[in-house]
Amino acid sequence: MTVVKIDNLTKRFGNFYALNGVNMEVKEGEIFGFIGPNGAGKSTTIRILLGLLRATSGEATIFGMDVWQQAVKIHERIAYVPGDVNLWPNLTGGEVIDLFIKLRGGNINKHRRNDLLEKFDLDPSKKCRTYSKGNRQKVALVAAFAADADLYILDEPTSGLDPLMEQIFQDCVKDAKNEGKSVLLSSHILSEVEKLCDRVGIIKEGEIIETGSLAQLRHLTRTHISVETEEPITAIYEMKGVHEVKQIANRLSFQVDAEELSNIMKYIAPYGIVKLENRPPTLEDLFMRHYEKEHELSGGHFHD
Ligand SMILES: Nc1ncnc2c1ncn2[C@@H]1O[C@H](COP(=O)(O)OP(=O)(O)OP(=O)(O)O)[C@@H](O)[C@H]1O
Ligand SMILES: [Mg+2]
Repeated sequence: MTVVKIDNLTKRFGNFYALNGVNMEVKEGEIFGFIGPNGAGKSTTIRILLGLLRATSGEATIFGMDVWQQAVKIHERIAYVPGDVNLWPNLTGGEVIDLFIKLRGGNINKHRRNDLLEKFDLDPSKKCRTYSKGNRQKVALVAAFAADADLYILDEPTSGLDPLMEQIFQDCVKDAKNEGKSVLLSSHILSEVEKLCDRVGIIKEGEIIETGSLAQLRHLTRTHISVETEEPITAIYEMKGVHEVKQIANRLSFQVDAEELSNIMKYIAPYGIVKLENRPPTLEDLFMRHYEKEHELSGGHFHD
C-alpha cells in the first residue's frame, strides 16, 4: 500500500519554481530517504505534505487523503520533527512533549515516553529556553516517537545530535519500522540514510532525479578496485566501463561500472592475481557523482 503519494507537484514562489513536477511515493512499512543539496526542495515538499504550504499544482495524498483538504484528519496519524525545533520558552521539555502528544489527540503512553527520555538522556524538568539546540531536537524526537503515529515525517531530524544520540535516533527509526510504521526521512547524513532506508529519492533543483532501493541505485555506481598481479596488466584503460586508472608496474587501481565488473574480473584473472581489494560504492559516491559530474550522466540510466 502507498502511504505518501506525490504526483507532478509544483510549488512556485513568485517566478521561482521551488518544486518542478515532483513524483514520489512512500510505501507502507518502508523507510524512505529523501536527499538532495541545500535548497533542492526537500522542506518545501514536506511542508506541502504537512498542509502548511499549498502546492501550486499537482497532487499529494497521505493515507489516500488530500494533504491540503484533509490535513486535520491526516495529522491524527502522523508525527513530524523539523530540523530546527522552536519550543515554548516557558514550558519545560516534559510539558512540551505531553502537549505535542495531546495536540495530536493521542493518549500519553507514560512508559514509552519515559523510556525515550532515558534513552535520549533528556531532563524533562528544564524550561525550554534553557535547552541547547541538540536538546530541543531531542524534545521533538521524544514527542514524535512517543506518539503512536502511522507515518513519521522527519526533516533533517538529527542536525544537532551528537554521534551517541544519532545511534539512539537510528534505533528509534528501526523500532518504528519493526512495528510496521512508515518513515519519510530527509537527511544530509548519507551514512544515516544508507543504514536506515529501504528506498531513496534524490531531489535536485525541484526535481526528483533518481529513485530506487540502495541496491538499484548502487547499480549506477562504480566499484573501486585495487589489484596486484604477477604480470603487469595491459591496456585496461581500453576496456569498457573502466575509469580513473592508476598503474604502477604490477599494481593497478581503477573504478569500474557495476555492469562491467564481471567482464573486467575475467580480463584480469589471467595476469595472476596476487592481491585484490575492492570497495563497494557508497551512497556518497552516488550523490557526489550526481552533483560533481552531472554532464557525464546523460540518458540511459535507471529510473524507478
Ligand atoms: N517562502 C519562500 N519564499 C520564497 N522562496 C522559498 C520559500 N521557501 C523556500 N523557498 C526556496 O525554495 C527552494 C527550496 O527550499 P527548501 O527549503 O525546500 O530546500 P531544502 O531542500 O529543504 O534545503 P536544505 O537542505 O537547505 O534544508 C530554495 O531555493 C528556497 O530558497
Ligand atoms: Mg530543508
